[in-house]
Amino acid sequence: MGKLITFEGIEGSGKSTQIKLVAEYLSRKNVELVVTQEPSGTDIGRKIGSILFNRGHGHLCAEAEMFLFCAARAQHVREIIMPALEQNKVVLCDRFSDATYAYQGFGRGLNQEFIRLMNDYSAMLLKPDLTLLFDLPVEIGLERATARNNKLKEPAATDRFERENMDFHRRIREGYLDILKREPQRFRLIDAGRDVEAIQKEVRRCIGDFINLCD
Ligand SMILES: Nc1ncnc2c1ncn2[C@@H]1O[C@H](COP(=O)(O)OP(=O)(O)OP(=O)(O)O)[C@@H](O)[C@H]1O
Ligand SMILES: [Mg+2]
Repeated sequence: MGKLITFEGIEGSGKSTQIKLVAEYLSRKNVELVVTQEPSGTDIGRKIGSILFNRGHGHLCAEAEMFLFCAARAQHVREIIMPALEQNKVVLCDRFSDATYAYQGFGRGLNQEFIRLMNDYSAMLLKPDLTLLFDLPVEIGLERATARNNKLKEPAATDRFERENMDFHRRIREGYLDILKREPQRFRLIDAGRDVEAIQKEVRRCIGDFINLCD
């Protein structure tokens, strides 16, 4: 079996930036790789994502939100992740089950035991082998996300989650740190407040060590 490595953290913490850079690095090292993301790692997931992120869907209830993320994950695991792991590939995944705990559990207040069951069922009991948690103050993360959206000349791209209040995002951050405390061996805590290069160096080291990559 290959290895599932997930990237987690609040909005704007640099997950997508870092996953792209480390994927380029690992490809140069001839590591057999699949890079993917939740919920939009499949066609079905992209359609589900368009419901989840639509700013007009402020009335989407927390339970429906959780089931939609789990539906996208069920499809993603079966269509993309499991087949890649069976081919001994390294799968780099931008968000996974921990995001459901953090956002729908800690953020929305849904029952964590129920989320665990739904996560396990949708992910076929698959757990990440390694999770990098990008941690930084929510104010900085949201500032970066807003600047990114503005740079894309799509300020309107601010999605349903980015529009939530600071307390919601603080609960997500605390939620992630809580999961890390429960499973310290699976996680690497990355200080995401530093510059891109410093973080990338640490990301390469964490993943390189984990998959026994030679320099
Ligand atoms: N270490 C950094 N320092 C300053 N800016 C950064 C850093 N890392 C990423 N950025 C910038 O911050 C913005 C958000 O980064 P990115 O999109 O990678 O975050 P993300 O965690 O994937 O966010 P989201 O949860 O919204 O998908 C981007 O414009 C990116 O260029
Ligand atoms: Mg991203």
